[in-house]
Amino acid sequence: MIHFLNLKKLNQPFEAAFQKKMKQFLEGGWYILGNEVKQFETDFATYCGTKHCIGVGNGLDALVLIFKAYIHLGKLQKGDEVIVPANTYIASILAILQADLVPVLVEPRLETFNINPEEIEAKISSKTKAILPVHLYGQLCEMKAINEIAKKHNLLVIEDAAQAHGSQFSENEKAGNLSHAATFSFYPGKNLGALGDAGAITTNDDALAAVLFSMRNYGSKVKYENEIIGVNSRLDELQAAFLNIKLKQLDSENEFRRSMAKRYLSKIKNEKILMPNWDLSQNHVFHLFVIRTSNRTDLQNYLKENGIETMIHYPIPPHKQKALANWNQLSFPITEKIHDEVLSIPLNSGLKASEIQHIITTLNNY
Ligand SMILES: Cc1ncc(COP(=O)(O)O)c(C=O)c1O
Repeated sequence: MIHFLNLKKLNQPFEAAFQKKMKQFLEGGWYILGNEVKQFETDFATYCGTKHCIGVGNGLDALVLIFKAYIHLGKLQKGDEVIVPANTYIASILAILQADLVPVLVEPRLETFNINPEEIEAKISSKTKAILPVHLYGQLCEMKAINEIAKKHNLLVIEDAAQAHGSQFSENEKAGNLSHAATFSFYPGKNLGALGDAGAITTNDDALAAVLFSMRNYGSKVKYENEIIGVNSRLDELQAAFLNIKLKQLDSENEFRRSMAKRYLSKIKNEKILMPNWDLSQNHVFHLFVIRTSNRTDLQNYLKENGIETMIHYPIPPHKQKALANWNQLSFPITEKIHDEVLSIPLNSGLKASEIQHIITTLNNY
């Protein structure tokens, strides 16, 4: 069976370095907010081209903390509306709700799966205060158009870059530095994945960063002095140690993924399968390689019979989830079509050349 993702295999190349680091960690005896977190924050800020990186517990907390920090700074108020793509992973929407803000769903483009800037302005009201574009599957949103709309309407822009570490338009325009503040997840399966939960925020805003450094740590900069209402959502020291090792390989990981995506795009030819759109630039890091087909169950079963495991990202759109029952009657036809048709095929650096070839041949024979 070709597994969709074999994390053990993916992390195998790092095992010796992890073990060496683990030994140092045990000898050092410093477990929370130590040098590894500081190192990661410095290096990831440099990597993204931002002044600040704030390490936090996970990608969801990263979003919640940004919203709460903006509320603390008076730039957002409870009840303000935030524009968000309707087909995002539910975390983006939960974060808005958890900060007592109001998500306003906007349809994506069918071609890119990313929020359609042409649909945004119609959804802006006097209560709209922010846009949360999500670089879904690793491909950057149309940030120029989004930032222009935001400027015109005086809105904050926060990138959900949970799936897009290293995606870039150019050297200086990279996921994490294309908006006022951005969030990342280092959930183990991500292109930069930890060995547990982890996340980060990047920003050039000094005031926002100062609030966030405090807010993630009980609202405290000096131990037992609490300046603001904070939470416990610190990037774990051990996870930071693993991430410091893996960050050095992120560019080559992304390059490998792009070369594999190019191979799929040029070799898979089947009129029953719609391939993802990509301009071959570095604006995509292929966290996921997502195809579309009108009879997904049939294709998924066929692939399984042929030893290929696939996944669906995601089977149910947020507005149809039980947890968001108030929205279940809403209609977002493009989002619903995407959720009915998408199928993610294996793409990661753990795959052997023969496995990649088997995936291509099997899809062509469908
Ligand atoms: C688009 C998006 N946003 C936010 C998150 C939340 O990240 P985490 O799982 O680290 O909380 C994810 C995680 O998978 C995601 O894909």
